[in-house]
Amino acid sequence: MKKIFLNLGRQPLANSYLPNLSKKVINQEFFYNLKVSFNDKNYLVSVSNPVNPKLQYTSNYAHRASESFTMRTAFKKIARKLKKQFNPRIVLEIGSNDGVFIKNFDKKKVIAVEPCKNLANITKNRFQTYPSFWDTKLAKKIFKETKKADLIFSANTISHIPNLKETFRAINLSLSDRGVLVIEDPSLSSVIKNNSYDQFYDEHVYLFSALAISKIVEDFNLRLFHAENIETHGGSMRYYICKKNSFYKKTKNLIKIIKSEKKIKLHKFTTYKKFSIRVKKSKKDLIKIFKFLNKKGKKIISYGATYKSTTVFNYCNVNTKLLHYVTDTTLNKQGKYTPGMHIPIISPNKGMNESVDYAFLGAWNFKKEIFNKEKKLIKKGTKFITHVPWPKIISK
Ligand code: TYD
Repeated sequence: MKKIFLNLGRQPLANSYLPNLSKKVINQEFFYNLKVSFNDKNYLVSVSNPVNPKLQYTSNYAHRASESFTMRTAFKKIARKLKKQFNPRIVLEIGSNDGVFIKNFDKKKVIAVEPCKNLANITKNRFQTYPSFWDTKLAKKIFKETKKADLIFSANTISHIPNLKETFRAINLSLSDRGVLVIEDPSLSSVIKNNSYDQFYDEHVYLFSALAISKIVEDFNLRLFHAENIETHGGSMRYYICKKNSFYKKTKNLIKIIKSEKKIKLHKFTTYKKFSIRVKKSKKDLIKIFKFLNKKGKKIISYGATYKSTTVFNYCNVNTKLLHYVTDTTLNKQGKYTPGMHIPIISPNKGMNESVDYAFLGAWNFKKEIFNKEKKLIKKGTKFITHVPWPKIISK
């Protein structure tokens, strides 16, 4: 049974940056109530009332994975590893974004699926690209004449698709008998450990654990045989799944991970109730920091117009009374306004300078990269505010 444990209030779509603050644009802004539940049958943690994907994955989709050095490097590394390990004849990627993963493969071997047309357009000339949502109809169309895939890769996508049944059914149709499905998504254990409630937003319909994935795939003639913790997106998990009767053996690492998830009781509702109490406290403490610094006349901005910070700002009601602006390196976010709270977004060249006393780490998952980049300003006295794992001011 599904039981709600967290209510993050009225939220906009995390990536729907406003082009201007005209009445018309503001009136059209879409909001929904973000509640999160736990299912004690299959251990799935999910957004209770998912938004229709057609509203989310449009041709205005802002996120481009290639723009981040950390992500470019991570995808190159995993592509190399998977090529060596599985020697795939056909590689299918579900949610190929701007091609950051597939570009590491021979173009004759690659099939890309990406519903956001602006992103699919980037890869369509070099790679066989389907500008569509992933489902059984598409899987049947693709593999009608082509050999089935020996490797299906999907990063930060499966957790975005409300209909898991359709997703895994389509995967089962597309995977060769010796094939391996590799998916990676933010991990639930990291969210619980870091109190990173901002991993919940409209696109993150699910926050997976190895416990949940191993249960779910069983219904689709599939089997989880390996998992590994990875650093991306503030703590993610990579899952390796094969056909039920395939030769892959359950690895020691998977056994270890399942054991550690049971140890922190990811299979118990009480864990999530306790988490929601910590989230409420996190909100109170963060607002306290913002208000205290504002009273002292400090200039506070936010660093990185992330989807995650959409959740934080709307849940904690952080607006232009508390923050001057948000800086972001992404060109198509600059000049726009954050969803819900309508804080202006400008380029770091314009906004990240000595006038800034404090910068909220909206992109806390890139802390290492950011602190390295902003070494000089930090030396001169600029400090950062983070809410992970609890609200505090940091300078290293
Ligand atoms: P991302 O990690 O994808 O987080 P989310 O999924 O929550 O949106 O986004 C990181 C954002 O931070 C992206 O818009 C780029 C921005 N960013 C900067 O502005 N400066 C930086 O130095 C880094 C590393 C990221």
